[in-house]
Formats: sequence, structure tokens, C-alpha cells
Amino acid sequence: MIIAETIAEVRAVVREWKRQGLTVGLVPTMGYLHEGHASLVRESVRRCDRTVASVFVNPTQFGPNEDLATYPRDFERDREILEREGCDMVFHPSVGEMYPEGFATYVEIQSDMPKQLCGKSRPIHFRGVCTVVCKLFNIAEPDMAFFGEKDAQQLAIVKRMARDLSMAVEVIGCPIVREEDGLAKSSRNAYLDGEERGAALVLSKAVALGKKMTEEGERDAAKVTAAMRALIEAEPLARVDYVSAVDGETMAPSEKIKDGTLVALAVYIGKTRLIDNFTFRDRA
Ligand code: PAF
Repeated sequence: MIIAETIAEVRAVVREWKRQGLTVGLVPTMGYLHEGHASLVRESVRRCDRTVASVFVNPTQFGPNEDLATYPRDFERDREILEREGCDMVFHPSVGEMYPEGFATYVEIQSDMPKQLCGKSRPIHFRGVCTVVCKLFNIAEPDMAFFGEKDAQQLAIVKRMARDLSMAVEVIGCPIVREEDGLAKSSRNAYLDGEERGAALVLSKAVALGKKMTEEGERDAAKVTAAMRALIEAEPLARVDYVSAVDGETMAPSEKIKDGTLVALAVYIGKTRLIDNFTFRDRA
């Protein structure tokens, strides 16, 4: 596996692959990889001739009081996982490589989409995500890019950015990967102590409750989200940021649960903010 630290190195390798007529898949990550990331790499390896993963803790998507400094990092472990999954190149740039002196250009969706859900408590987050993902698309020129459905708002926003800016990349969402007890895999799970790890199960329990209610025919979004919220609030270590039902493409709030409605939640367990969601599919 090639380890590239500069944009020029990535470009040279990708140019040669393209000259040979090979397709390229990109898996953008912030490292501290887990099975969720591994599943994205596997999907890219399955669908594309060559796979590039990026490992970059992107400072522009963290607010001033967020966990940029403490975000878990272990590049050696990440490298081993990527190599094992068949990744062909990892791009591991420095902050200076991605944001050189005088950097001043950002990509931002000018609608309510990035202001909903996570955007309410993380106002600059999606501007940072769009900017870095746009840069990664420009650097690696992927045919396909793979993102987890756990970050459902991020996935919808990246799809919208790629569509609006006519980017020549297919943005593909991959299913949430869970621990055996249901907790959605996340690099931030590493912050949880023993007691918090137990309490964090309220997220997947709330998702299971919401799914059950909708599968049993409940279509009133307020009733579903209220029941999910009540379940979470019964856990003393949990503090709800939001439990909301929105249109899965536009993120506009939904009063009725219908095909494609995203029911998403963010919950603080102690100081750790975790997210989870499900998308309702009307099988009728
Ligand atoms: O989902 C993430 O890990 C990040 O938001 C991403 C897409 C790698 C951009 O920094």
C-alpha cells in the first residue's frame, strides 16, 4: 500500500491508474478506524479497481469548543487495517498540506440543509466537511466515494454538493455497522468509560423503538420522536441534543413519517456526543 503525504504524490499515482483505464474509489476518514470504515474500504475494493483512503483529522469541521485536540489518533493501526482490507493508497496529509498559509476558500450549501440536526449545535461543521471533501475529490479524482449512513446528514450534504457542483463522482452510502449489543460503531466510542459505554446503548434502543413504532404503522413524527426522547431521558448519563424526523434528502423537518423519512438523534453520554438514525422505508 502506498502511503502518500502530499497532494502531488496522490495526483501522480492516480494519473497513472487513470492512464491504465482503472477506476478509483475514495474512502474519506478522520482515522482511528473501526469496522464501519473497514466496510467502506471493502465496498470500494469490491466496486473499484483501485482504492484510496484518506486519514486526516480536518480542523475546519470542528467548532472552537469541540474535540479537535483530543480526537483519537493512531496512524500505525489505521495503516494496518487499510492494508489488510486491500486499500491501495492512504493519503495522510499534514494540516499545512491541506490548508496552506492564506487558505480562504470554503464550500458551503446555502440552504437550511446544513442548519438542521447536527448543524444546530455545530454551525460550521458542514462547511468544513464540504470544503475538505471537495478538496479530497479534486485531489484523488475518484469515480466513486464511500460514506457511512451513520452520518446521514453528512451523506445527504455531500451528495447535494456533488450534484450542485457537477462533480464527476458517484457518492455512495453504506449501512451503519454496529457492535454486537447494538451501539453504532464510532471513533468517539473510545471516549466512553465503562458506565458510559452501558448508558450509550440508549441510542440504539431509541432507534429500535422508533423503527418498531413506524413498522407497526405510527406515522405521526412527533409521537415517534417523543417516545424515543422519553426512552433516552430515562438514562441518567444521557442528555438529548436532538431527536428529529426530517426528509432524508433535504433535511427539512417532517410531520408525517413516510418513505425516505430520516429519524435521527444526537445524544451526549457524559461529555461524548454520539449520533444514530434510521430511515423509514414504506414496504407497502
Ligand atoms: O466522516 C468523517 O470522518 C469526516 O467528516 C470526513 C468525511 C472524513 C471529512 O473530514
